[in-house]
Amino acid sequence: MRFDILTLFPAMFSSPFEASILGKAIEKGLIEIRIVNIRDFTSDKHHVVDDTPYGGGQGMVMKVEPIARAIEWAKAESPSAWTIYLTPQGHPFKQERAEALSSKTHLILLCGRYEGVDERVREMFVDEEVSIGDYVLTGGELAAMVMVDALSRLLPGVLGCGQSAEEDSFSESLLEYPQYTRPTDFRGHGVPEVLVSGNHEAIFRWRRKEALRRTVKRRPDLLAKANLSETDKGFIDEILQSEGTRTRGDGV
Ligand code: 6GU
Repeated sequence: MRFDILTLFPAMFSSPFEASILGKAIEKGLIEIRIVNIRDFTSDKHHVVDDTPYGGGQGMVMKVEPIARAIEWAKAESPSAWTIYLTPQGHPFKQERAEALSSKTHLILLCGRYEGVDERVREMFVDEEVSIGDYVLTGGELAAMVMVDALSRLLPGVLGCGQSAEEDSFSESLLEYPQYTRPTDFRGHGVPEVLVSGNHEAIFRWRRKEALRRTVKRRPDLLAKANLSETDKGFIDEILQSEGTRTRGDGV
C-alpha cells in the first residue's frame, strides 16, 4: 500500500516510520510512504502556500494551486488514488473505517494547517475528510501518522503471527483484559491467582469478565455493538452489583 503525505512540515515525519513494525513493513516493501512538501509545488518566487481569507477574519488559508499540483503529481501514476483531508471537521476515524480503507492500494493524505484549505480543494480534489478525535491539533500531520499506523498494521504480513489484528479489542467492541508478567510480587502487589493456576477454562472466564468490567466502566457506549452471550450478561450483572469498588486508573 502506498501513502503520499502532503504537508507543509515534512520534517515532522523524519523518524516516526523508521522504528519497529512500520520500519520493517517499509523494508519488506509492504508499505511505501512518500512525504510530499506542498511548498515544492508553488510556482511563484516566494513559494507562497497560504493567504488571507476572502471576507476577512483571522489566520491564513492554504492556497488551492500548490495543493492541486501536489495532488495531481501524486495521482500521476495511479489516477484512482483515494484522497483524504485530515481536519477536525472530518468524520471521526474508527477501526471499521481503518479496515475498509486498508483494501485501497494508494492513499493521498492531505494535512491541513492554519484555518484550513481553500474550499475548492475540498470540492475538486478530496474524496473523504477525517478527524482523529474531538480535540484540536496544530495540524493534520499527527493525524496522518495515526492513520498510517492504524491501516498498516491491518495489512497482511505487517504484524508477526503472534500479534494478529483479528483479536484487536475494537474489532470485537470490547476493551482488552488486564495483563501481567513476572514477578508475581511487586512491592506487595500480586498477580490474580487464577492466572498462575494453569486452569485454562478459569483463565478464559476471568479474562472475559475483566474485559467486560473495563468496558462497562470506561466505554459503556461500546457495549451496544458487542456480541454478548448469556454468560456475558450474567457477568455484567455481577459487575454492576459490585460497583463502587474503584481502583486507580478507572477514574476520570
Ligand atoms: Cl485531522 N487535524 C487537526 N488539526 N486537529 C485534529 C484532527 C485533525 N483530528 C482531531 N483533531
